[in-house]
Amino acid sequence: MKVGIDLGSSSAGQPVRLDLEELLSTRLLVQGNSGSGKSHLLRRLLEQSAGHVQQAIIDPEGDFVGLAERYGHVVIDAERTQGEIQRLAARVRRHRASVVFNLEGLDADAQMRSAAAFLNGLFDAEREYWFPMLVIVDEAQLFAPAGGGEISDEARRVSLAAMTNLMCRGRKRGLAGVIATQRLAKLAKNVAAEASNFLMGRTFLDIDMARAADLLGMEKRQAESFRDLNTGSFVALGPALSRRPLPVRVGPVETASRNGRPELMPPPEMGAAALQDLIFEDGADPEPPARVVPAPRPITEILERIDEAPAPEAALADPETLRAIEAEREELIADIVRQFVTEGDQPIRSAASLYQDFLVHCRVRRVGSRVPDLADFTRRLAIARAGVDHGLACADRESGDWQRALAQAGELPEEMQGVFLMLARAGMEGAPSPTDEALARAYGSRSPSRGRWLLTYMEERGYLACESDFRGKRVVRFPAFGWKTAAGDPRPTEARPGDSRAAEPVRG
Ligand SMILES: Nc1ncnc2c1ncn2[C@@H]1O[C@H](COP(=O)(O)OP(=O)(O)OP(=O)(O)O)[C@@H](O)[C@H]1O
Ligand SMILES: [Mg+2]
Repeated sequence: MKVGIDLGSSSAGQPVRLDLEELLSTRLLVQGNSGSGKSHLLRRLLEQSAGHVQQAIIDPEGDFVGLAERYGHVVIDAERTQGEIQRLAARVRRHRASVVFNLEGLDADAQMRSAAAFLNGLFDAEREYWFPMLVIVDEAQLFAPAGGGEISDEARRVSLAAMTNLMCRGRKRGLAGVIATQRLAKLAKNVAAEASNFLMGRTFLDIDMARAADLLGMEKRQAESFRDLNTGSFVALGPALSRRPLPVRVGPVETASRNGRPELMPPPEMGAAALQDLIFEDGADPEPPARVVPAPRPITEILERIDEAPAPEAALADPETLRAIEAEREELIADIVRQFVTEGDQPIRSAASLYQDFLVHCRVRRVGSRVPDLADFTRRLAIARAGVDHGLACADRESGDWQRALAQAGELPEEMQGVFLMLARAGMEGAPSPTDEALARAYGSRSPSRGRWLLTYMEERGYLACESDFRGKRVVRFPAFGWKTAAGDPRPTEARPGDSRAAEPVRG
């Protein structure tokens, strides 16, 4: 699905569009001095894309809480334990809720730690919840500072690591970083360098201009023009925006910022004496209204709101994306199962005895919560042992015939399905019938007699029919499909010692 959102207009009055889908994989950096209009721009981007993609805003000033009323974002106040924050982040991904993570009122150290916990929570989500989402970080230099400062080393380390993860490794997990900063020179280089799209606003300092020119691959002279930009005007560049630097005037927004632009206000009209009294005399002025600091909402309430929050309607998680996620999950599981296929002379272990190890591998490699159960694992292992999928052309795999063979295999006990498919594939391709030993191995046994027993079992139930040619070679027919294998020697001459031993399978 292609979604282009309207950022504003070019100097020629043409609409300037931001390709949301492209943005998901190429990230965005916004820079401009204080008051240049970055937060306004982020708000415009959030409002225009709210219906299309899930959003999370790391909001140091509580500037974006207004989105909740109009667009249904859930506001999460950050004054919580690390565990709570990570649990909330996991729920956010599961339910595709758009949220504002409000860090207002926390000191710098706590802001960094909380933002890191939240970002890590988003990042560590189970694979099946890797839906695309925009992760917007305003004042990114606070969370990924270029230098030291008075922040504790530990807070700096965790926060910088989380921001680096977001920008460098987030894409695969569906996280698209959009970061804004006042001072490019104060933002960690590796974090800035991962963005491929830029919106450059008014910039005064030479050092920031030099960094901007460097990032954009511009002559420093060209970057000088950033000095003359008005509030709300940016130069856009990047695959999701424009291939050449394009000036854009950001359009209006629907929700209000809490931190508006300061306006001039003439001093109060009262005499100097009255003012002196007000300043020097105790008790001369009324008590200021107490600032009401709302208590953080209980986590249970926020969890409920996340569960109920509407997921973006025309979500970018279209069927194709979901299919891609599913295919990736399948590939990962197949890869893990392949590790359990015994090579060479190692003892063959039963699926049941391998299952616990399999679960551990799934956890380590983040397969997600939908992990195959024992029966499914047994079937997959049998198929992997039979090497059925190996080298099977994509067109064959998707052909109606092969799908019917898979369906028929499904009627057999799980551990036998690989053996049947191994034979069926030979039948489909007209390859020689596999040896007894190969059939036994695919079943988890080293005993060739087990291979013969398997053939008898399937033959008696009408899945296949075996014949021997005049040289003792075997041909297997599949009546349901009209396939037959080429003649194959059931006991090849290079049989290993011990083959004649009718050892029982090591199945458990
Ligand atoms: N495109 C625009 N159209 C109209 N008003 C704008 C536009 N861009 C910014 N403004 C106004 O300019 C003021 C400053 O903008 P904004 O708060 O977005 O700046 P900022 O770059 O985020 O500054 P800071 O770094 O200090 O947070 C705000 O009052 C905002 O409403
Ligand atoms: Mg701002």
